Amino acid sequence: MEIKVNLATQLKEKPTDESKLGFGKIFTDHMLLIDYDTNRGWYNARIEPYGPLKLDPAAACFHYGQEIFEGLKAYYGKDGGIYLFRAVDNFKRFNYSAKRVCMPTLDVDLAMEALKKLILLDREWIPETRGTSLYIRPTMIATQPFLGVEAADNYLFYTILDPVGSYYPEGLNPIKIYVEDRYVRAVAGGTGEAKTAGNYAASLLPATEAKKKGFTQVLWLDGCEKRWVEEVGTMNMFFVIDDEVITAPLTGSILGGITRDSVIQIVKNWGLKMKEESVSIDEVIADATSGQLKEAFGTGTAAVISPVGQITYKDKDYVIAGGKMGELSQRLYDEIIAIQYAEKPDPYGWVEKIG
Ligand code: COI
Repeated sequence: MEIKVNLATQLKEKPTDESKLGFGKIFTDHMLLIDYDTNRGWYNARIEPYGPLKLDPAAACFHYGQEIFEGLKAYYGKDGGIYLFRAVDNFKRFNYSAKRVCMPTLDVDLAMEALKKLILLDREWIPETRGTSLYIRPTMIATQPFLGVEAADNYLFYTILDPVGSYYPEGLNPIKIYVEDRYVRAVAGGTGEAKTAGNYAASLLPATEAKKKGFTQVLWLDGCEKRWVEEVGTMNMFFVIDDEVITAPLTGSILGGITRDSVIQIVKNWGLKMKEESVSIDEVIADATSGQLKEAFGTGTAAVISPVGQITYKDKDYVIAGGKMGELSQRLYDEIIAIQYAEKPDPYGWVEKIG
């Protein structure tokens, strides 16, 4: 399919101080759009100046939550090249999410071709400092105007680009998380393993309450027993207990993170013990108390590797790794970053040079 390009006539001012980028606040000059109709399939792929979308107030995405998204990043490599990290895996997960909420799947080759074209057009927006990147947000919404709970016939796929620094204001400093034992994020059989807006909407009230108490994030427990540790909503969670690295298995209510999978592969490759096994909050607390819990960290595209320095459960605080970034968390961060910025060879085939 031809990808038409309509260039912006007025370019925006680019950020000058890369240390102040933050996350999710600045968007580049262009965006990618592709329309879908049940009878025609995908059509009208185009790159246009970044700007507001014109949608009917009855568009189904506003009423029944037919929306999915992804998060991936492009990096300026050490050699001045532009690199994508596991982008095809993100589009495969996008298609998984699409099926779960009854949306059409994308042609991954078309999505990749269009994405590369968009990034190269706005390449001057990619920040250069190590630790910064161009965050990519592919999104799909139901656009058909109607009221009624059924899958729409029309959709819009679009992608916007956002130069970013750290997701958390703490940067690489350990964050404090609050174990939520009242609200739940998702249940097995629900939409927890799809990247769809409703999961995030469900997290906002507990997250806001936790923030007021001084916590960066909420740690979710399973929706049935409120006993098994699941994820943090913006990241998957890993624990280092004695000499074993443990993360929750993908049982249906947890997002299958790309960074989660990368960490599992690296840990195994290093010859360390890696388990995908349910761990109860009682065990985490007992191990934090006895000192067997050596480290805890979260993983995500936005968060990369984010150390957790304190967990609070039933109003009691448990400090982890002395409140500092643990040795393994640091080693994993260094390894992933070095691969993403093409500072070292990539034995996993995760990075692709696109320009
Ligand atoms: C990502 O890590 O890319 C995400 O989509 C998490 C988001 C809440 C920023």
